[in-house]
Amino acid sequence: MKIPINAPIIEKDEINEVSSVLTEKSLTSAANAGGKRVQEFENLLASYVKSKYAIAVNSGTAALQAALYALDVKQGDEVLIPSFTFVATANSILSVGAKPVFVDIRPENYTMDPIDLKKKITKKSKVIMPVHLYGNFSYMDEISEIADKHNLEIVEDACQSLGTTYKKKQSGTFSKMGCFSMYAAKVMTSGEGGAIVTDDKNIFEKLRKIRNHGMLHGYDTRILGLNLRLPEICAAIAKVQMKKLPKFLEKRKRNATILNELLSDLNIILPQERDNVEVNWYLYTIATKNRNKLIKQLNSQGIGATAYYPIPVHETPFYKKDIKLPLTEWAAKSVLSLPVNPLVTENNLHHISKVLHKIIK
Ligand SMILES: Cc1ncc(COP(=O)(O)O)c(C=O)c1O
Repeated sequence: MKIPINAPIIEKDEINEVSSVLTEKSLTSAANAGGKRVQEFENLLASYVKSKYAIAVNSGTAALQAALYALDVKQGDEVLIPSFTFVATANSILSVGAKPVFVDIRPENYTMDPIDLKKKITKKSKVIMPVHLYGNFSYMDEISEIADKHNLEIVEDACQSLGTTYKKKQSGTFSKMGCFSMYAAKVMTSGEGGAIVTDDKNIFEKLRKIRNHGMLHGYDTRILGLNLRLPEICAAIAKVQMKKLPKFLEKRKRNATILNELLSDLNIILPQERDNVEVNWYLYTIATKNRNKLIKQLNSQGIGATAYYPIPVHETPFYKKDIKLPLTEWAAKSVLSLPVNPLVTENNLHHISKVLHKIIK
């Protein structure tokens, strides 16, 4: 694909930092605090999102799983999530023995619908896990109010929303824990990787043990944990990328602003702005009829248009549930994302617009 939807941007400084890990042979550390680069990355992330603590792990999935372990979520518990998400959100819940309960979305930003959320709460509900899909910000004011009323914890799946803010506060910091992914296609990457942010010291100390087989000093397992450690090679990349994140996000915003204007005369649903929300433009997502045909034609012109996600989790063969989530089902049929990543040029955007106009008009 000539214009990929997302692609890692790796330059000399990432390569140099990885080289120095290899030269030093400091590939990993099983110490409670983690390796040198892991700690450096954690400090940069915590300071960027303005959280007290950050804990690096080896994927976004591991971050969600660790967060659920930290809250002692287990068999018999229910965790409320949108079905319109990447399957990792649901898998992390099953992996600790709990049950995902699927909530519908709001159509204007594809995130959890607080009204449907209320209807899905039961005596078994323990955690609400909103997903800031595409970098859009969930309705956290409403969700927090519901959580308080029912005495539930919130863990934000912020795997797609690093850098998104609401009233200038970073996504992932509106709840007990926020979980990020640094998968290769994200707004910044470490190849594979993830992180949890929190302001709670007890949770922070627990998460450090969970990352490392429940150990504190070594061979003294105190709670259930796994090997969720981020390798130093990955932390080296993350550390460099973290410093570039503001520049990456500026370029994404510029590209999204240009696309908004170029596509404004088309009969399609464009991304909708919300007061006080600055999205990170991880994905520029439109909704339209004939979505599949459109993707095929865009792809044939070298444009990496992609549907996230054509099958909602509750309709995948493994999770298949006979429930109705009308807006989730509408979105799964209608959405497609267009490239706005930092490598996309103004010429690319004009090409995308031209092709779209030709197909739709
Ligand atoms: C919404 C969402 N949740 C969880 C994950 C899991 O992250 P990872 O792929 O790093 O395990 C991802 C990313 O892939 C995601 O997009």
